[in-house]
Amino acid sequence: MSQFQSIDVNDYYDSETFERIKSFAQDKPTPFVVIDTQIVAKQYQAMVDNFPYASIYYAVKANPAPQVLTLLRDKGANFDIASIYELDMVTELGVSCDRVSYGNTIKKRADVRAFFARGVRMFASDSEADLRMLAEEAPGARVYVRILTEGTHTADWPLSRKFGCQNEMAYDLLVLAKALGLEPYGISFHVGSQQRDIGAWDSAIGKVKSIFDRLSEEHGIILKMINLGGGFPANYIDKTNPLETYAEQITHFLQEDFGDNLPEIIIEPGRSLLSNAGVLVSEVVLISKKSHTALERWVFTDVGKFSGLIETMDEAIKFPIYCERQGELDKCVIAGPTCDSADIMYEHYHYGLPSDLAIGDRLYWLSAGAYTTTYSAVCFNGFPPLKDYYL
Ligand SMILES: Cc1ncc(COP(=O)(O)O)c(C=O)c1O
Repeated sequence: MSQFQSIDVNDYYDSETFERIKSFAQDKPTPFVVIDTQIVAKQYQAMVDNFPYASIYYAVKANPAPQVLTLLRDKGANFDIASIYELDMVTELGVSCDRVSYGNTIKKRADVRAFFARGVRMFASDSEADLRMLAEEAPGARVYVRILTEGTHTADWPLSRKFGCQNEMAYDLLVLAKALGLEPYGISFHVGSQQRDIGAWDSAIGKVKSIFDRLSEEHGIILKMINLGGGFPANYIDKTNPLETYAEQITHFLQEDFGDNLPEIIIEPGRSLLSNAGVLVSEVVLISKKSHTALERWVFTDVGKFSGLIETMDEAIKFPIYCERQGELDKCVIAGPTCDSADIMYEHYHYGLPSDLAIGDRLYWLSAGAYTTTYSAVCFNGFPPLKDYYL
């Protein structure tokens, strides 16, 4: 067996879907992403079916294209918003502000004022300064406090540490929220994006429960909501459990702590809705070796860390890469087109590409519908942002 990772497209798309994407892509100059919105719809429905008791707040940052937002708007989704610019994107499509949560714990005063004036009433927070500002600019609004969670090492793209605060502080902030005239509404966490250890939700929910109980007993504050964040699985090279298993387990953790009387539950999926709907198509620009005797090839492609693939940083997200040649797989370094030496996507993981790969061949980066288009630089080395098409 080859020591290199071979990719079977059927593990990611049914053949009809992949053929449809490929034939749509055929005449278009690379690089670009093609998103099949039918897959987004299917993934959204899977979330609804697996978490029937939860309200879904789509994490707009994963892909804010109007085609995606419109589809989710029509399916009744709510929206987790990170900035005033994302708020514009969803409200311009007719989404009312009662379907929006301002989920970023880092916000400018002027933006909070604008969110409140436009009717947003739900805000995340994790610090005293932010909370006091919320009390001034969004009086009476619902506030949920984000806690730190474990699980950083088992998520491909960790999110805790920068966001959230320790339990004790979360408790104090919720007490303070009440004193400041805000509504202490609930607690949120994010166990890390592409979280492989479902147990990460167990310990987070346990922490939430203890804050719920203490606030009720010691201050008569009855929290109403838990925001379980994102972290649900997408299908990359390293396999995860299926969404059904995540849902079964998480539901079990919730019931263990809260019994049948669950508070309002919010989930904020991004990656799991979009990733597998997208294929990024790129072209091989150059294949070279660094010496006459070097064994490994360098494969340079027209997409890189600065044109949508920043999540390959530290080789965190391992996109399946498919090409049509069938030659034996050979070791290679896969790098982007810019004059920046950080623009190397994969050097250590055992990626192999066919030995007969040639300049001009297309590479298909599977599961690339989330966190690609918006991460693309606008003009680095003159390259335009990554293009996107929607089927
Ligand atoms: C507050 C918040 N919620 C949800 C998400 C979406 O997470 P995921 O893409 O893992 O579903 C993110 C991602 O950064 C986030 O910051």
